[in-house]
Amino acid sequence: MAVSLASATMNAQTVRVSTDKTDLVMKVSPKGRLYQVYLGDKLNNAADYDRITWNTYAASDGAVSTRGHEVCAASGNEDYFEPAVAITHADGNMTTYLRYKGVETKAVDGGTETIITLQDDKYPDTVKLHYVAYNKENVIKAWSEISHNEKSPVTLWRYSSTMLYFNAPKYYLTSYHSDWAKEGQPETVQLTAGKKIIDTKLGTRAAMHTEPFFELGLNEPAKENEGNVVLGTIGWTGNFRFTFEVDNVGGLRVIPAINPYASDYKLRAGETFTTPEFIFTTSSTGTSQASRNLHDWARRYQVNMGMGDRMTLLNNWENTGFDFNQKSLAELMKDAKDLGVDMFLLDDGWFANKYPRKDDHAGLGDWEVTHSKLPDGIPGLVRDAKAAGVKFGIWVEPEMVNPKSELFEKHPDWVIQQPNRDTYYYRNQLVLDISNPKVQDYVFGVVDRIMTENPEVAYFKWDCNSPITNIYSPYHKGNQGNFYIDHVRGIYKVMSRIKAKYPKLPMMLCSGGGGRMDYEALKYFTEFWCSDDTDPYERLYIQWSLSKFFPAKTMGSHVTNWNKNTSLKFRTDVCSSCKLGFDIDLKPLKGTDDYKFVQEAVANWTRLKPVILDGDQYRLVSPYESAHSALNYVSKDKAHAVLFAYNLHPRYKEPLTRVCLQGLDPNRQYTVTEINLMPNTQSAFDYNGQQFSGDYLMKVGLEVFDQKDGTSHVFELK
Ligand code: DGJ
Repeated sequence: MAVSLASATMNAQTVRVSTDKTDLVMKVSPKGRLYQVYLGDKLNNAADYDRITWNTYAASDGAVSTRGHEVCAASGNEDYFEPAVAITHADGNMTTYLRYKGVETKAVDGGTETIITLQDDKYPDTVKLHYVAYNKENVIKAWSEISHNEKSPVTLWRYSSTMLYFNAPKYYLTSYHSDWAKEGQPETVQLTAGKKIIDTKLGTRAAMHTEPFFELGLNEPAKENEGNVVLGTIGWTGNFRFTFEVDNVGGLRVIPAINPYASDYKLRAGETFTTPEFIFTTSSTGTSQASRNLHDWARRYQVNMGMGDRMTLLNNWENTGFDFNQKSLAELMKDAKDLGVDMFLLDDGWFANKYPRKDDHAGLGDWEVTHSKLPDGIPGLVRDAKAAGVKFGIWVEPEMVNPKSELFEKHPDWVIQQPNRDTYYYRNQLVLDISNPKVQDYVFGVVDRIMTENPEVAYFKWDCNSPITNIYSPYHKGNQGNFYIDHVRGIYKVMSRIKAKYPKLPMMLCSGGGGRMDYEALKYFTEFWCSDDTDPYERLYIQWSLSKFFPAKTMGSHVTNWNKNTSLKFRTDVCSSCKLGFDIDLKPLKGTDDYKFVQEAVANWTRLKPVILDGDQYRLVSPYESAHSALNYVSKDKAHAVLFAYNLHPRYKEPLTRVCLQGLDPNRQYTVTEINLMPNTQSAFDYNGQQFSGDYLMKVGLEVFDQKDGTSHVFELK
């Protein structure tokens, strides 16, 4: 059959997934295969959608070619690059050819969901591609469902969330690597022919070394305020893998997926394998706009209570470690009140009796208060917090167990460990097998019991300090290939039960610092702990990186004594640009200027929460590119803004440049006032208290930096 390229493409069935700014266009070829023909800025003329052809590569063997940028390329067919889906069928055949069967669309909160059905014509296997396009926020999230009706189980060995193609002369990937206290380290490389893979196989503390998000610069490395940029992130609190492959004609395919490492997945007939969501946004004006797209989308549609309020808190981990008792905690609760924060958060070390949690060697699994330490139990702590006038929150790490625990003695079969090899311990602990429904009930019960017995507990910090070691699931026995994936799904089952029963309960996700930060977990958590590294210098870099993907509202940042040689003001100002908290001994500060300062800073932050947490963020000066850093927030109505300026390590006699704000209303007048000043000091800036037009502030800018190491200035604009 000879069909001309032009007429074949003009008549082809077209599927469009569109936001207000972006178009993803797919077409069905005469042979019934589905190809991506366009992904980029939204096209203005409807007729142009019909005109886009498969690229010449697709048509290299004629207009009816079956090669091209197939939307869901599967294993064993004529696509010679990394497939999106790979299935070993019940008869052992490892090839899959997916053909377009139909499309449906439906309105969902914030946008439109498009569901495309693809089917193999020789095997009863179906792949449904889901895309939700959020119009205003210019965000698309995509995932897939794989199912079949073969006579016996099939084995899945590739199961990508989606597959996207880009066409540009050059591609630059910025990925983020990590370690304990070193989260969010960016690294940019040019993607050249072949593959680059970013993945993790740590299981639970999955993002400890690589983080589940990336920036892609088309033509040039991603820049803050110019150029074509894609931000992408996968919502999976487990092993993920991003594959970037540049093909023979210079096309880039991006494959976000669960990592198939040790995960050949047996899928029974009638079951559906649902992949994680991949979330992406594009911008033709750099990363800054793309980040704001994600921030708006996340707050509105993804994060638990994303539009709700957040509480300031005093935590005790950096202050007391495991060394506290009922009396000393009651004192800390009073300190929290005096400081002006909303809540006291009790950290690790409050539980277990046979093997009390005196340090990190014992107790995990036995979630009952240590009676000798806390004789009146959690009710006593809630009572003392109430008497002090603050809310009470509590730390748990319910996915884990110490071998020195009653839980381990009772249920060794609930623990991931090798039956026939030596055990490797990470922080002296092991991971529970949450693929087991009985273990799910137990983990749910940890939170449920605390809440049932103490309905006034107002907050949880949910920690997870160990990756999965000794990978072997007693529950999965002969089917270990399903384990890594079912384990993560087990965690989500627990989380969704908690959210269903306690929909108003705020929770912080923590994983030995920031070993877990992803948008599936954030459906259940209100915020995450970015890092245990609270040195203000380091924190500025970490916050800068993470703010590209997450709104400040979700990023917990606590003032501690890490690098206590820096001023308390500097430390507080750094944390004030995120979700502010404290984890510091306040007693020695009482009566000092520092103490008056922090009290006022808490009051200022509480007043400015609507701007910082719910406004638009503009990153102005990067600590990666300068000895300074600055960012500003603007309220949605543009009436109110906050500017943070930090001096890290300025050079001797370094010339200081002005900082131009962004996002203000050019026609409005703003009064600029320096806040968070130390008591009895005045702003050194002579423009303090003066009015400027938004236009002036954005074009001429203000001198906000100085040449002193570790100093900062915060300005309120009204
Ligand atoms: C690791 C967390 O990141 C810390 O904040 C603290 O909660 C400890 N775990 C407690 O063991």
